[in-house]
Amino acid sequence: MDLGIKDKVAIVTGSARGLGAATARRLAEEGVKVVVTDILHEQAEATVAALRADGLQAHCIVADITKGAEVQRLVAETIAHFGGVHILVNNAGFPRDKYLVKMSEEDWDLVMEVMLKGAFLATKAVMPKFIEQGWGRVINISSRAHFGNPTQANYSAAKAGLIGMAKALAIEEGRYGITVNCVAPGFMETEMVQALPTYETIKERAVQMQPIKRVGMPTDIANAVAFLASERASFITGEVLHVTGGRYG
Ligand SMILES: NC(=O)c1ccc[n+]([C@@H]2O[C@H](COP(=O)([O-])OP(=O)(O)OC[C@H]3O[C@@H](n4cnc5c(N)ncnc54)[C@H](O)[C@@H]3O)[C@@H](O)[C@H]2O)c1
Repeated sequence: MDLGIKDKVAIVTGSARGLGAATARRLAEEGVKVVVTDILHEQAEATVAALRADGLQAHCIVADITKGAEVQRLVAETIAHFGGVHILVNNAGFPRDKYLVKMSEEDWDLVMEVMLKGAFLATKAVMPKFIEQGWGRVINISSRAHFGNPTQANYSAAKAGLIGMAKALAIEEGRYGITVNCVAPGFMETEMVQALPTYETIKERAVQMQPIKRVGMPTDIANAVAFLASERASFITGEVLHVTGGRYG
């Protein structure tokens, strides 16, 4: 299926590695010009170098998604470099897991800042261009955790918040040919989850609870994002696509 997005320009936040890097690659394989943006400078440059080595179009911009001025610069530099912006994937994020009684105000604020505020700032920054051109795609990377996970009051709230934001913006911006959707990954094999002290346990549990008995891979998310970013998904908005191997609870 031709996704119909050749020569569009995408920003994928937090794409130095993990799901973001896989998404950047998948979009680039469709002929999309991709901006890899992250706070991890060397890793982001390495991701771009790997894409370019395969003949794909990619550009690295280091930016902290929680800072309004940096996000404005990110979008301005994207437009200056590639001549536009059409697709935004709000992917940057991380957990700070603790039981509520041990969760600090900082644990709460950090998670809200990077995922909710970061997505707000980035979406707000691209929206004038999307409206002007009458076409745009926003895809928020939520999580199965939006249903609620113990030790993840902050993370679950932020991931559910991304869904609320997408549903509100889907209604607000639909008239301009802009769709806003979420992908909710289940357990995916990335460095973020490999770094968790409970990695082996949650991996085993995830596969046990999934109807599809294999570990989720970054390419599973990348394929879902590419579809929602495509011309083929132009009548789908305000949706949450669960990519969890069939696991919901
Ligand atoms: N891996 C999973 O199982 C899983 C499941 C559900 C949801 N998710 C979500 O998918 C997204 C990607 O996860 P991942 O597993 O690839 O994690 P990852 O840690 O490999 O990648 C996240 C990236 O975000 C970047 N980042 C962090 N703070 C940033 C900031 N302030 N500005 C810009 N970039 C920043 C990090 O440097 C990192 O490169 C996250 O939002 C995560 O919550 C992951």
